[in-house]
Amino acid sequence: MSHHHYIISRRTFAVGVIGAAAAGPRALAQAVTATSEMGPFYPAGYRGETDADLTRVAGAAKRAEGQVIEVVGRVLDKMGNPIRGAQLDIWQANTHGRYDHPQDPAIMPLDPGFQGFARITTGGDGSWKLATIKPGSYDSPIGNRPPHIHMDAIGPNTRAMLQMYFPEDAAANARDSLYKTLGADAPTSVASALGDHRYSWDIVLLEG
Ligand SMILES: [Fe+2]
Repeated sequence: MSHHHYIISRRTFAVGVIGAAAAGPRALAQAVTATSEMGPFYPAGYRGETDADLTRVAGAAKRAEGQVIEVVGRVLDKMGNPIRGAQLDIWQANTHGRYDHPQDPAIMPLDPGFQGFARITTGGDGSWKLATIKPGSYDSPIGNRPPHIHMDAIGPNTRAMLQMYFPEDAAANARDSLYKTLGADAPTSVASALGDHRYSWDIVLLEG
């Protein structure tokens, strides 16, 4: 079951309906990114660093364990216009598949060099950039979860709970129960590989 967490204000919705009626029906220019469940490990109460480099924590003896990756992207409205000032709250498991969260029952180790959470605000061109490590897969009550990065994307009028998947894990993604619930929209949640451990992922919100 897919939960849609976006919020549309009443005023914006009314304007949108009037605009659509005036212009007549038209196809969306961009496929809106598929939303998913928030999951049990939303970092409520987090008190640590929130910068865009998850691989370094002030005072930690070492950089985060695992494969360092970079993810770049933009936040767009459904017509393809960049959304400036969108907020991305980002959280993920460490390289061992463990969340730094009191509810995570995993016995896999924590990594004191891994930040676990970031808060990014998009620039004027809607762009964002994250330095992190590739998250580990982990077992859960709904089956093995392939590597994924959670994002809570907040635009001017909408909020979307997202999970970003990795293109090299296509087989594991196809077996994942949450990925499967996305149906035909699932490809919108998969990043593109840029090579050299870099990825890109554009987020399209139900705006515009
Ligand atoms: Fe997760």
